[in-house]
Amino acid sequence: MGKLRLGVNIDHVATLRQARYAATPESKNAEPDPVLAAAMAERAGAHGITAHLRSDRRHIQQRDIERLRAGIMTKLNFEMGNTPEILHIAIKSQPDEVCLVPEKRQEITTEGGLDVVAHRRELSPTIQRLHAVGIRVSLFIDPETEQVDAAAELGADMVELHTGRLANAFTEEIERQELSRLRACAQVAAELKLQVNAGHGINYQNIVLIHEIPHLTDLNIGHAIVSRAIFVGFENAVREMLELMQDYRG
Ligand code: PXP
Repeated sequence: MGKLRLGVNIDHVATLRQARYAATPESKNAEPDPVLAAAMAERAGAHGITAHLRSDRRHIQQRDIERLRAGIMTKLNFEMGNTPEILHIAIKSQPDEVCLVPEKRQEITTEGGLDVVAHRRELSPTIQRLHAVGIRVSLFIDPETEQVDAAAELGADMVELHTGRLANAFTEEIERQELSRLRACAQVAAELKLQVNAGHGINYQNIVLIHEIPHLTDLNIGHAIVSRAIFVGFENAVREMLELMQDYRG
């Protein structure tokens, strides 16, 4: 079993920049710079950088994606809603991977997984267009085996299992249920030869639970790392998370 890899989601570095510089994100004073955070994450040993270009551009801007593409040394995972505008940008920017997520304007962060079963028809041509230009495709899904099956049928390369419900479980009972759903989906996905990733709400405490999910390759973690970085610095925050990911047994 390979080791667990960390994709650092730098969206919230851009959230802070936009809080002050939404009108002038490219001005010389605009900070903090998500591209600098990406470089620091890589220096600390992160295996990839994740960024979500939302339709409303609330954090990451198109220019950030261009600069990330030009500057990062590991891999760029581009999170996106399935819209023609954003698909066009993805194809032009050539990230290594795309993770398709549902996107609602009102949500604070991505709330649920993609309903692959219900949206097969719209997802299929998008996956094909991304594959045609050599981009690997992940689908962010709730831990339901029907969703894993549908992802495999559509030819996705990977699934990212939504760990938000596990992260936010407020009883042991919910935690146990959710872990068992995640474990079952990881198993099914691995049997279907899908790469299994996980993300959403993972932090320095609940990461111990993630070790109980088999077959994982990438974890995408944002909010907890960016928050911790305020107190210990970006590189330290990434290093501490990497340390907690060691000894994953798959
Ligand atoms: N994975 C996906 C698909 C996401 O949408 C997000 C949130 O942007 C993350 C991972 C990271 O979640 P968090 O910020 O809670 O670590």
